Amino acid sequence: MSDVMVPTGTSLQESQSLRAFLGKLAQQRDLATVRKEVDPRHEVAAVLKKGAEEEGPALFFERIKGRTMPLVGNVLAARRRLATALGASEADLLESYRQGIEKSLAPVRVERAMARQELADLFSLPVITAHERDAGPYITAGVVLASHPRSGKVNLSLHRICPINAREAAIYVGATSDLAEYCREAGDTPLPVAVAIGLHPAFYMIASTKFPAEMDELSLVGGLLGEGARLASDHRGLWIVPESAEIVLEGEIDFRRTVPEGPFGEYPGYYGGGTLQPRQSPVIRFTRLSCRPDPLYQTVITGPTTGYESTYFSCLSKEAMLYTLLRRINPAVRRVNVLLSRYIAVVQIQSGLGLVDGVRLMREAFSNLEYLKYVILVDEDVNLNDPMDVLWALSTRVDPGKNLHLFPQIKMEPLDPSTDGVCDKVGFDARRPAGVSGEGFLRTRIPGYETTRLQDYIGEKKER
Ligand SMILES: Cc1cc2nc3c(=O)[nH]c(=O)nc-3n(C[C@H](O)[C@H](O)[C@H](O)COP(=O)(O)O)c2cc1C
Repeated sequence: MSDVMVPTGTSLQESQSLRAFLGKLAQQRDLATVRKEVDPRHEVAAVLKKGAEEEGPALFFERIKGRTMPLVGNVLAARRRLATALGASEADLLESYRQGIEKSLAPVRVERAMARQELADLFSLPVITAHERDAGPYITAGVVLASHPRSGKVNLSLHRICPINAREAAIYVGATSDLAEYCREAGDTPLPVAVAIGLHPAFYMIASTKFPAEMDELSLVGGLLGEGARLASDHRGLWIVPESAEIVLEGEIDFRRTVPEGPFGEYPGYYGGGTLQPRQSPVIRFTRLSCRPDPLYQTVITGPTTGYESTYFSCLSKEAMLYTLLRRINPAVRRVNVLLSRYIAVVQIQSGLGLVDGVRLMREAFSNLEYLKYVILVDEDVNLNDPMDVLWALSTRVDPGKNLHLFPQIKMEPLDPSTDGVCDKVGFDARRPAGVSGEGFLRTRIPGYETTRLQDYIGEKKER
């Protein structure tokens, strides 16, 4: 792992680049090189999933079959790497993210940006096909930057993008996203965008989340970076190009022209919102494709478990939002965890701080965060990072007649195949009942268990 040959640049402030971050990972021995040739169809994704499940390092694929550009994946597929990106410890990750967002630093315009090279076409990118039934290769780590047609406010978002020819691609723009709103605002005129691939993690952490309208997403990136995001202008004079991006695809989204797009394996672990049929998606027409010298292509695989990189960074921002929301209501909220990408939230409540109205916390969570379907409240003695521990609390501390609360007919995000945009949501109060002496709920414990090592009793594994 020590001899990872990631290209490094010297001509610009590298602190904001993907390659600077990879350099940091290499120093920490958290980046590994895959030297053998790997097939972009399924094989790269299989290796990435295996690597993430085993909490392995970020992966730099030197040789992608049929392509010349190297590829990097699993960049953020571990909480320790999210922490590295923010210069925090794993324990302080959420707080560090929240503080970064509160700091919010305005972007910096770079008049004399570094020279970029032209890319021949979309097919020169090592775009991967991840899942069995995916319609084809998809660009998944392209941050779409767009300037609002009237206000000029820049939006950042992530979208699956499927190349359909050398200079055009289909893009899935969910109806509730800000980008969809920008496109509606543009009316009959195509919306100019830049798709930036291969960026510092701060861009992905912000792009994966919809923030309230009053927040400026580029300034939030700056808050996480600790310095204003450096922006270059595109060929139309729009300041929407992150200077250090490995690859930039400048073009325009034409909502009037749609093509069949999908299916695509999405984060709930299915191919779409309940159907394998392609949907009609708008076309992006690219007018300029450019890259840094020695470009690196970045990819992300999406799915419900910790085998998929998207889980890590999109959960972080959702946890930050939920925590901020619930803490405002009651400071007894101690920690939160969003499981399986987004549908289940576990909220840990500190006891001894007075009566906490669990139903109110649940209602606020459901009405503000549409991607939550279940909220589970637990006590401090439950490890909310361990799903089995959470299930244990659910199975032993919930009397369904008393502690299950139904919140009828609330908006639900569209990719959940089991609902049609509105559903009943459920809160479980899995805390020990207030006022009970507590003896009946004292967890069994074996003294000495935590420090006991099996090998001290039966020898090392290899000796058996
Ligand atoms: C890896 C990844 C892929 C995503 N793909 C899409 C997509 O194809 N279409 C979409 O509408 N949202 C997609 N999202 C979710 C949006 O990026 C997210 O909702 C974002 O908040 C939208 O930003 P906006 O509301 O500021 O435009 C994806 C998120 C992640 C993490």
